Amino acid sequence: MKKDWWKDSVVYQVYPRSFQDSNGDGIGDLQGIISRLDYIKQLGADVIWICPIYPSPNVDYGYDVTDHKTVMESYGTMEDFHELLEEVHRRGLKLVMDFVLNHTSTEHAWFKEAELDKTSKYRNFYFWRPGTKHGPPTDLQSDYGQSVWQYEEHTGEYYLHMNAVKQADLNWENEDVRQAVYEMMRFWLDKGVDGLRIDQLHLISKKEYLPSYEDYVQGKAESKPFQPNGRRIHDYLTEMTEEVFSQYDVMSVGEAGTVTPEEGLTYTGTDEHELNMIFHFQHMELDQQPGKEHWDLKPLELSDLKSVLTKWQKKLENKGWNTLFWCNHDQPRIVSRFGDEGKYRKESAKMLASVLYLMKGTPYIYQGEELGMTNAPFTRIEDYKDIQTVNMYHKRVYEKGYDPKEVMTSILAKSRDHARTPMQWNDGKHAGFTDGTPWLKVNPNYTSINAAEALADPDSILSYYKKLISLRKQYADLMKGSYDLLLPDDPQLFVYIRQTDTRQLLVINNFSDKEAIFQWPDELEREMAQLLLSNYDGGREALPSIELKPFESRVYLLKRD
Ligand code: GLC
Ligand code: CA
Repeated sequence: MKKDWWKDSVVYQVYPRSFQDSNGDGIGDLQGIISRLDYIKQLGADVIWICPIYPSPNVDYGYDVTDHKTVMESYGTMEDFHELLEEVHRRGLKLVMDFVLNHTSTEHAWFKEAELDKTSKYRNFYFWRPGTKHGPPTDLQSDYGQSVWQYEEHTGEYYLHMNAVKQADLNWENEDVRQAVYEMMRFWLDKGVDGLRIDQLHLISKKEYLPSYEDYVQGKAESKPFQPNGRRIHDYLTEMTEEVFSQYDVMSVGEAGTVTPEEGLTYTGTDEHELNMIFHFQHMELDQQPGKEHWDLKPLELSDLKSVLTKWQKKLENKGWNTLFWCNHDQPRIVSRFGDEGKYRKESAKMLASVLYLMKGTPYIYQGEELGMTNAPFTRIEDYKDIQTVNMYHKRVYEKGYDPKEVMTSILAKSRDHARTPMQWNDGKHAGFTDGTPWLKVNPNYTSINAAEALADPDSILSYYKKLISLRKQYADLMKGSYDLLLPDDPQLFVYIRQTDTRQLLVINNFSDKEAIFQWPDELEREMAQLLLSNYDGGREALPSIELKPFESRVYLLKRD
């Protein structure tokens, strides 16, 4: 079999809790996913990435794992899992599991033993440090709005948690930890799973020492002693490749916050024996104030977006491989974020798809994105379930004295729950997601935005995604060709060329809600240009000067001389 099938694939991401409930308990489950596989297949996706399905106390909805080798009861049984895998394969699709290996739940058997007994072999599976007279060993804060250190009274020491308090970081310096993790990875790959998405890969190697609070206040230590992408990350990845990935024909993709394109290349370069792809987040950080949290909003500058995406395209061009994504279970909905969820919802959602998914790399489409699902309009904090959102609200409102209205504005823009509201299947009760009470409220716009409506409409966002995906397949050679940005400083247009020796694809996008003019560049063949895709009706002729409607997108095929 071709080893790099993942380069020609389109991935569809499923958040199991919110995809389809099959038994009326209001929680999505494996049987629910099985019942919707034909939907994923008709979209044209090749691979399904499913967020964690392991047992979890759900502090972070599955990213706090208590047992990596079974299935969470509310999602089903191992039998259901085997059925899912078989049904996926029967349709010619592939299944990628989400694997959380930077931390475990504090309810994991390893941690339970470690916290009680300093002499247990599991003690050193985690990071423990004595406190200082100021309290925690260092002052580092997590994205969850708390110290990364939690005092544990049985042994009088603190453990490290880079995420929520109940997600204790595993100590990758300890070889027993690494071997235990590799064994769990093989457990799923041996079942025939087609790949793994590695959660928080950038955190597994920490800086080698933990400065004391005193060092820090005296300026002898950096404020963030736990730097991501630490010095041993590449040793671990090389070892992981040898022990796990090299033994299977599978794909690997790592979540790598805070990496630059240069570092990205070292994670995915073909000569490095590391991962196939990583998720970087540089394009997701452009609508936040520099150096602050993602809640601190700032409008997107189109030139920043062009520059970031282009740097990744160019840096990885012939050596690595990019992921292409706008959405996932941690991000707000892209049409609300960079498009227009009102008047131009359809046009902008289609344009956003064209801009990104015709670049070089593997597209990752997140459930509901293909319907143009929007952010939820919930204005009461009680309607949010995401721990990051809820902790931040309490911290800012009750500890820091922010105006609750301002905090809600940030939540309406950025909460992770916008991605997690139930999938909108139809205009029936609870959008067809469940017969019971959904665990998270359904976005009330399901009456008009839903899969049934989109499937019946040849002009829907869904139909456009299908055309775009089949275009990628039809022009697979061009999808491997080079990428070059045109008009880097234009404040409205996002235009680029993909090319091989014989052909060019010209992708023209008006990334604004105003009309825009595109002047056809002299050096590009025009008279024979063939329109392959557009989000507006009509002739859309390749004129020397093209007037583009708001959010208009056109894709032309050109011959090279
Ligand atoms: C990743 C996941 C996110 C989770 C975090 C901690 O970033 O995508 O949902 O909260 O890791 O596991
Ligand atoms: Ca269920």
